[in-house]
Amino acid sequence: MPRIAIIPGDGIGVDVTREAVKVLAAIRAKGVPLDWDEFDYGADKYLATGITLPDQQIAEFRDRYDAVYIGAVGDPRVPDMKHAADILLGLRFKLDLYINYRPCHLLDASLCPLKDKTPADVNFVVFRENTEGMYAGVGGHLKKGTPDEVALQTSVNTRKGVERIIRHAFEYARTNKLTKVCMSDKSNAMRFEGDLWQRTFYEVAKEYPNIEASHWYIDALLMQMVKRPEQFQVIVTSNMFGDIVTDMGAQICGGLGLAASGNIHPGRTSLFEPVHGSAPKYAGQNVANPLAAILTVGIMLEYLGYPDWTSRLEGIVKEMIQAGSVPRDMGGKLGTAETGDWVAGKI
Ligand code: NAI
Ligand code: MG
Repeated sequence: MPRIAIIPGDGIGVDVTREAVKVLAAIRAKGVPLDWDEFDYGADKYLATGITLPDQQIAEFRDRYDAVYIGAVGDPRVPDMKHAADILLGLRFKLDLYINYRPCHLLDASLCPLKDKTPADVNFVVFRENTEGMYAGVGGHLKKGTPDEVALQTSVNTRKGVERIIRHAFEYARTNKLTKVCMSDKSNAMRFEGDLWQRTFYEVAKEYPNIEASHWYIDALLMQMVKRPEQFQVIVTSNMFGDIVTDMGAQICGGLGLAASGNIHPGRTSLFEPVHGSAPKYAGQNVANPLAAILTVGIMLEYLGYPDWTSRLEGIVKEMIQAGSVPRDMGGKLGTAETGDWVAGKI
């Protein structure tokens, strides 16, 4: 039976995870075998004990659980983000979760800020490289605090790292009978990493002759996502660029309240989380939208071997939108708990 470690985390992470667990419980009650335990890592624990996420806990997740689910981490009382970095980046890096999977499926035309675009037009997935690039933590300060201060942040790109995310994008396209993969970089200006991404992309593409391989520079990609989102099926890009394009991707699908994601290493314990953060100003007020957290449950169950739950949960959210009964950030009146009840009641 799949085992899930659940970390509600901070702020609205706690509120939305409660609803995700409600939905998980409803799914389990329908006979889907699932088991989970909750863990209290987050700002409160860090401030009280100094503990962020110990290595032996990560090892336990790796050895005894199939998935980790996180609400969100981040708290204004921890301005240097120490615990959030240890928890989120710690899991991504130490579990080697090299695939950040962020689907951009517009569920209803009414949610799209782009003129005349329908769910058929905004229907793509983004694969963001998740273990290298600008996030590798390579760099340093020189002469810090002086007028001659220097700060270096180095983008790390390995052949292995670039190739495995690109290959995954093509494999995903092939498995899902899609015909196009678009890679995005800034190879016109960032020549060293750009050269590696370009060569690797077109070399891997040769192994997939039935899939069209295309490219946009990252600035043009953002423009094209607004202008003609219908041209995209699968987008693959680096850690930093993937972070940026998926906030835009979330917005053209109705906002952060709906954006779900997975941090995946196929065959290993993987991590699932809504794209949004802990939105501290909304914490504990029953106003956060839990649909991103709930749709993330679908992606997690898909990973755990129950594929129909992504489309079933998306279907329930579509029904909810059509019934006009939605959370506040989507223009409705439903509170966090009422939204979770609505979805759980449809399962
Ligand atoms: P955020 O995603 O928490 O919030 C940005 C704004 O988006 C909110 O003020 C709110 O207007 C809206 N929003 C986001 N999620 C929502 C939801 N479920 N329902 C309704 N409205 C929602 O991003 P922000 O403000 O940049 O960061 C807040 C904290 O979260 C920081 O500490 C940040 O570092 C952390 N963070 C954590 C992430 C994670 O755990 N994966 C991801 C992004 C930020
Ligand atoms: Mg981001």
